[in-house]
Amino acid sequence: MILLDGKRTAADIKEEIALEVKQLKDKGGKTPHLAAVIVGSNGASITYVNAKVKACERVGFESTLIRLPEDISECELLNEIAILNVDHAIDGFIVQLPLPSHIDKQKVLMAVDPNKDVDGFHPTNVGKMALNLPTFISATPFGILELLERYKVETSGKHVVVLGRSHIVGSPMSILLSQKRKVGNATVTMCHSRTKNLKELTLQADIIIAAIGIPEFLKADMVKDNVTVIDVGITRLADSSKKSGFRLVGDVAFAEVAKKAEFITPVPGGVGPMTIAMLLKNTLLACKRKN
Ligand code: GUN
Repeated sequence: MILLDGKRTAADIKEEIALEVKQLKDKGGKTPHLAAVIVGSNGASITYVNAKVKACERVGFESTLIRLPEDISECELLNEIAILNVDHAIDGFIVQLPLPSHIDKQKVLMAVDPNKDVDGFHPTNVGKMALNLPTFISATPFGILELLERYKVETSGKHVVVLGRSHIVGSPMSILLSQKRKVGNATVTMCHSRTKNLKELTLQADIIIAAIGIPEFLKADMVKDNVTVIDVGITRLADSSKKSGFRLVGDVAFAEVAKKAEFITPVPGGVGPMTIAMLLKNTLLACKRKN
Protein backbone atom coordinates (compact mmCIF):
# COMPACT_ATOMS: atom_id res chain seq x y z
CA MET A 1 0.00 0.00 0.00
CA ILE A 2 1.29 3.46 -0.90
CA LEU A 3 0.06 6.40 1.15
CA LEU A 4 -0.82 9.41 -0.99
CA ASP A 5 0.82 11.93 1.30
CA GLY A 6 -1.05 15.19 0.73
CA LYS A 7 0.81 16.99 3.47
CA ARG A 8 4.21 16.35 1.90
CA THR A 9 3.01 16.94 -1.65
CA ALA A 10 1.34 20.21 -0.63
CA ALA A 11 4.61 21.27 1.06
CA ASP A 12 6.47 20.57 -2.21
CA ILE A 13 3.93 22.63 -4.18
CA LYS A 14 4.12 25.50 -1.69
CA GLU A 15 7.90 25.47 -2.00
CA GLU A 16 7.57 25.71 -5.80
CA ILE A 17 5.10 28.60 -5.42
CA ALA A 18 7.36 30.40 -2.91
CA LEU A 19 10.24 30.19 -5.39
CA GLU A 20 8.08 31.64 -8.16
CA VAL A 21 6.88 34.45 -5.88
CA LYS A 22 10.48 35.30 -5.06
CA GLN A 23 11.36 35.40 -8.76
CA LEU A 24 8.35 37.64 -9.42
CA LYS A 25 9.38 40.01 -6.63
CA ASP A 26 13.03 40.03 -7.78
CA LYS A 27 11.83 41.16 -11.19
CA GLY A 28 9.85 43.98 -9.56
CA GLY A 29 6.53 42.23 -10.11
CA LYS A 30 3.49 42.32 -7.91
CA THR A 31 3.17 40.18 -4.78
CA PRO A 32 0.14 37.88 -5.14
CA HIS A 33 -2.65 38.88 -2.75
CA LEU A 34 -5.51 36.61 -1.65
CA ALA A 35 -8.49 37.82 0.34
CA ALA A 36 -10.82 35.50 2.24
CA VAL A 37 -14.30 36.42 3.40
CA ILE A 38 -15.85 34.52 6.27
CA VAL A 39 -19.35 35.09 7.58
CA GLY A 40 -20.18 34.03 11.14
CA SER A 41 -18.23 31.88 13.54
CA ASN A 42 -18.49 28.26 12.38
CA GLY A 43 -15.51 26.60 14.10
CA ALA A 44 -14.44 24.39 11.19
CA SER A 45 -14.76 27.24 8.67
CA ILE A 46 -12.63 29.54 10.84
CA THR A 47 -9.96 26.83 11.13
CA TYR A 48 -9.93 26.34 7.33
CA VAL A 49 -9.80 30.05 6.54
CA ASN A 50 -7.03 30.64 9.07
CA ALA A 51 -5.06 27.79 7.49
CA LYS A 52 -5.50 29.42 4.06
CA VAL A 53 -4.30 32.81 5.32
CA LYS A 54 -1.33 31.24 7.12
CA ALA A 55 -0.39 29.35 3.95
CA CYS A 56 -0.34 32.67 2.08
CA GLU A 57 2.22 34.05 4.52
CA ARG A 58 4.39 30.95 4.16
CA VAL A 59 4.73 31.33 0.39
CA GLY A 60 5.25 35.09 0.49
CA PHE A 61 1.75 36.17 -0.60
CA GLU A 62 -0.12 39.02 0.93
CA SER A 63 -3.44 38.10 2.48
CA THR A 64 -6.50 39.82 3.86
CA LEU A 65 -9.04 38.15 6.11
CA ILE A 66 -12.46 39.78 6.19
CA ARG A 67 -14.61 38.56 9.08
CA LEU A 68 -18.26 39.51 8.88
CA PRO A 69 -21.02 38.95 11.45
CA GLU A 70 -23.43 36.01 11.17
CA ASP A 71 -26.40 38.40 10.86
CA ILE A 72 -24.95 40.44 7.97
CA SER A 73 -27.59 41.06 5.30
CA GLU A 74 -27.23 39.58 1.83
CA CYS A 75 -27.09 43.11 0.44
CA GLU A 76 -24.20 44.09 2.73
CA LEU A 77 -22.28 40.95 1.82
CA LEU A 78 -22.80 41.65 -1.89
CA ASN A 79 -21.46 45.13 -1.24
CA GLU A 80 -18.27 43.72 0.33
CA ILE A 81 -17.82 41.52 -2.75
CA ALA A 82 -18.31 44.49 -5.08
CA ILE A 83 -15.52 46.30 -3.21
CA LEU A 84 -13.14 43.34 -3.57
CA ASN A 85 -13.99 43.04 -7.28
CA VAL A 86 -12.62 46.53 -7.97
CA ASP A 87 -9.76 46.54 -5.47
CA HIS A 88 -6.64 46.43 -7.66
CA ALA A 89 -4.48 45.23 -4.76
CA ILE A 90 -6.49 41.97 -4.52
CA ASP A 91 -5.67 39.35 -7.18
CA GLY A 92 -8.17 36.77 -6.04
CA PHE A 93 -10.63 36.13 -3.24
CA ILE A 94 -12.86 33.47 -1.79
CA VAL A 95 -16.06 33.49 0.20
CA GLN A 96 -15.85 30.60 2.64
CA LEU A 97 -18.83 28.23 2.54
CA PRO A 98 -21.24 27.39 4.06
CA LEU A 99 -23.02 30.73 4.38
CA PRO A 100 -25.85 31.41 6.87
CA SER A 101 -29.25 30.22 5.63
CA HIS A 102 -30.66 33.74 5.13
CA ILE A 103 -28.08 34.37 2.38
CA ASP A 104 -28.54 33.03 -1.15
CA LYS A 105 -25.23 31.25 -1.83
CA GLN A 106 -25.71 31.25 -5.60
CA LYS A 107 -26.31 35.00 -5.68
CA VAL A 108 -23.10 35.53 -3.72
CA LEU A 109 -20.97 33.23 -5.88
CA MET A 110 -22.31 34.90 -9.04
CA ALA A 111 -21.33 38.31 -7.69
CA VAL A 112 -17.63 37.42 -7.62
CA ASP A 113 -15.65 38.69 -10.63
CA PRO A 114 -14.81 35.46 -12.55
CA ASN A 115 -11.23 36.77 -13.03
CA LYS A 116 -10.79 36.90 -9.24
CA ASP A 117 -12.76 33.71 -8.52
CA VAL A 118 -9.82 31.58 -7.37
CA ASP A 119 -12.26 29.02 -5.89
CA GLY A 120 -13.59 28.44 -9.41
CA PHE A 121 -17.21 28.50 -8.19
CA HIS A 122 -18.62 31.17 -10.55
CA PRO A 123 -20.87 29.65 -13.27
CA THR A 124 -18.57 31.13 -15.94
CA ASN A 125 -15.60 29.26 -14.51
CA VAL A 126 -17.60 26.07 -13.88
CA GLY A 127 -18.71 26.25 -17.53
CA LYS A 128 -15.13 26.72 -18.75
CA MET A 129 -14.00 23.80 -16.59
CA ALA A 130 -16.77 21.62 -18.05
CA LEU A 131 -15.63 22.57 -21.57
CA ASN A 132 -11.99 21.83 -20.69
CA LEU A 133 -11.01 25.47 -21.33
CA PRO A 134 -8.33 27.28 -19.29
CA THR A 135 -9.86 28.52 -16.02
CA PHE A 136 -9.61 28.28 -12.24
CA ILE A 137 -10.32 24.65 -11.38
CA SER A 138 -11.74 24.54 -7.87
CA ALA A 139 -9.12 23.69 -5.32
CA THR A 140 -10.27 20.29 -4.04
CA PRO A 141 -10.71 18.56 -7.42
CA PHE A 142 -7.58 20.35 -8.67
CA GLY A 143 -5.67 19.02 -5.66
CA ILE A 144 -6.86 15.47 -6.30
CA LEU A 145 -5.74 15.66 -9.95
CA GLU A 146 -2.34 16.94 -8.81
CA LEU A 147 -1.95 14.21 -6.18
CA LEU A 148 -2.82 11.49 -8.71
CA GLU A 149 -0.37 13.01 -11.20
CA ARG A 150 2.54 13.35 -8.79
CA TYR A 151 2.13 9.75 -7.58
CA LYS A 152 1.72 8.58 -11.22
CA VAL A 153 -1.62 6.90 -10.53
CA GLU A 154 -2.93 5.78 -13.94
CA THR A 155 -6.45 7.06 -14.67
CA SER A 156 -6.70 6.50 -18.43
CA GLY A 157 -9.19 3.73 -19.20
CA LYS A 158 -9.81 3.12 -15.50
CA HIS A 159 -13.23 2.91 -13.89
CA VAL A 160 -13.61 5.72 -11.37
CA VAL A 161 -16.53 5.71 -8.95
CA VAL A 162 -17.26 9.12 -7.43
CA LEU A 163 -19.35 9.07 -4.26
CA GLY A 164 -21.20 12.37 -3.91
CA ARG A 165 -22.54 14.95 -6.37
CA SER A 166 -21.67 18.21 -4.59
CA HIS A 167 -20.88 21.27 -6.68
CA ILE A 168 -17.55 21.62 -4.85
CA VAL A 169 -16.19 18.09 -5.28
CA GLY A 170 -18.28 15.24 -6.71
CA SER A 171 -19.65 16.99 -9.76
CA PRO A 172 -16.42 18.69 -10.98
CA MET A 173 -14.35 15.59 -10.14
CA SER A 174 -16.60 13.43 -12.34
CA ILE A 175 -16.35 15.89 -15.22
CA LEU A 176 -12.58 16.39 -14.97
CA LEU A 177 -11.66 12.71 -14.71
CA SER A 178 -13.75 11.84 -17.75
CA GLN A 179 -12.13 14.57 -19.88
CA LYS A 180 -9.31 14.17 -22.36
CA ARG A 181 -6.49 15.48 -20.14
CA LYS A 182 -3.25 14.29 -18.54
CA VAL A 183 -5.03 12.97 -15.45
CA GLY A 184 -8.34 11.94 -17.01
CA ASN A 185 -9.65 9.69 -19.78
CA ALA A 186 -11.40 7.60 -17.14
CA THR A 187 -14.82 5.97 -17.29
CA VAL A 188 -16.70 7.65 -14.47
CA THR A 189 -19.72 6.49 -12.49
CA MET A 190 -21.16 9.15 -10.22
CA CYS A 191 -23.09 7.86 -7.23
CA HIS A 192 -25.33 9.69 -4.76
CA SER A 193 -27.97 9.12 -2.11
CA ARG A 194 -30.48 7.68 -4.64
CA THR A 195 -28.01 5.27 -6.25
CA LYS A 196 -29.15 1.65 -6.11
CA ASN A 197 -26.72 -1.26 -5.65
CA LEU A 198 -23.91 1.07 -4.60
CA LYS A 199 -21.71 -1.78 -3.39
CA GLU A 200 -22.01 -3.50 -6.77
CA LEU A 201 -20.57 -0.34 -8.36
CA THR A 202 -17.80 0.35 -5.83
CA LEU A 203 -16.66 -3.28 -6.17
CA GLN A 204 -16.02 -2.60 -9.88
CA ALA A 205 -14.02 0.58 -9.25
CA ASP A 206 -10.31 0.93 -9.94
CA ILE A 207 -10.40 4.35 -8.25
CA ILE A 208 -12.92 5.60 -5.67
CA ILE A 209 -13.34 9.26 -4.75
CA ALA A 210 -15.32 9.40 -1.50
CA ALA A 211 -16.97 12.80 -0.98
CA ILE A 212 -20.26 12.24 0.82
CA GLY A 213 -19.52 13.48 4.32
CA ILE A 214 -20.52 10.26 6.11
CA PRO A 215 -17.74 9.16 8.49
CA GLU A 216 -16.16 5.78 7.61
CA PHE A 217 -18.85 5.02 5.02
CA LEU A 218 -16.61 3.08 2.63
CA LYS A 219 -15.77 -0.30 4.17
CA ALA A 220 -13.30 -3.00 3.08
CA ASP A 221 -16.06 -5.29 1.75
CA MET A 222 -17.09 -2.53 -0.72
CA VAL A 223 -13.75 -2.38 -2.57
CA LYS A 224 -11.72 -4.72 -4.74
CA ASP A 225 -8.04 -5.54 -4.23
CA ASN A 226 -5.50 -2.93 -5.39
CA VAL A 227 -8.07 -0.13 -5.49
CA THR A 228 -7.00 3.54 -5.29
CA VAL A 229 -9.00 5.46 -2.69
CA ILE A 230 -9.21 9.24 -2.36
CA ASP A 231 -10.94 10.32 0.85
CA VAL A 232 -12.37 13.83 0.67
CA GLY A 233 -14.50 13.53 3.83
CA ILE A 234 -13.49 15.33 6.98
CA THR A 235 -15.93 15.12 9.89
CA ARG A 236 -15.21 16.25 13.43
CA LEU A 237 -16.25 13.51 15.87
CA ALA A 238 -16.39 14.28 19.60
CA ASP A 239 -13.45 12.68 21.43
CA SER A 240 -12.79 13.68 25.01
CA SER A 241 -9.34 12.04 24.95
CA LYS A 242 -8.15 14.71 22.49
CA LYS A 243 -7.00 18.16 23.59
CA SER A 244 -9.20 19.71 20.88
CA GLY A 245 -12.22 17.67 22.05
CA PHE A 246 -12.64 16.07 18.63
CA ARG A 247 -10.96 13.81 16.10
CA LEU A 248 -11.08 14.07 12.33
CA VAL A 249 -12.62 11.17 10.42
CA GLY A 250 -12.86 10.68 6.68
CA ASP A 251 -15.52 8.96 4.56
CA VAL A 252 -13.36 5.83 4.44
CA ALA A 253 -12.82 3.18 7.14
CA PHE A 254 -9.10 3.74 6.64
CA ALA A 255 -7.56 0.87 8.66
CA GLU A 256 -9.54 -1.87 6.92
CA VAL A 257 -9.67 -0.36 3.40
CA ALA A 258 -5.91 0.40 3.43
CA LYS A 259 -5.21 -3.34 3.68
CA LYS A 260 -6.76 -3.86 0.22
CA ALA A 261 -5.63 -0.61 -1.43
CA GLU A 262 -2.72 0.07 -3.76
CA PHE A 263 -2.92 3.84 -3.11
CA ILE A 264 -4.92 5.61 -0.40
CA THR A 265 -5.10 9.10 1.13
CA PRO A 266 -5.06 9.53 4.92
CA VAL A 267 -7.35 11.85 6.91
CA PRO A 268 -6.00 14.23 8.00
CA GLY A 269 -2.97 14.83 5.78
CA GLY A 270 -4.45 13.77 2.44
CA VAL A 271 -6.77 15.90 0.33
CA GLY A 272 -7.08 18.77 2.87
CA PRO A 273 -3.55 20.20 2.54
CA MET A 274 -3.72 19.78 -1.25
CA THR A 275 -6.83 21.98 -1.37
CA ILE A 276 -4.95 24.83 0.27
CA ALA A 277 -1.90 24.42 -1.99
CA MET A 278 -4.07 24.55 -5.11
CA LEU A 279 -5.90 27.65 -3.89
CA LEU A 280 -2.47 29.31 -3.69
CA LYS A 281 -1.67 28.05 -7.19
CA ASN A 282 -4.90 29.62 -8.50
CA THR A 283 -4.08 32.90 -6.74
CA LEU A 284 -0.62 32.97 -8.31
CA LEU A 285 -2.25 32.32 -11.69
CA ALA A 286 -4.75 35.16 -11.10
CA CYS A 287 -1.88 37.52 -10.23
CA LYS A 288 0.19 36.54 -13.27
CA ARG A 289 -2.83 36.87 -15.57
CA LYS A 290 -3.68 40.32 -14.27
CA ASN A 291 -0.20 41.85 -14.11
N1 GUN B 1 -16.09 25.14 2.11
C1 GUN B 1 -15.63 23.88 1.97
N2 GUN B 1 -14.70 23.79 0.99
C2 GUN B 1 -14.58 25.05 0.50
C3 GUN B 1 -13.77 25.60 -0.53
O1 GUN B 1 -12.98 24.94 -1.22
N3 GUN B 1 -13.91 26.95 -0.73
C4 GUN B 1 -14.78 27.70 0.00
N4 GUN B 1 -14.87 29.00 -0.28
N5 GUN B 1 -15.55 27.21 0.94
C5 GUN B 1 -15.44 25.88 1.20
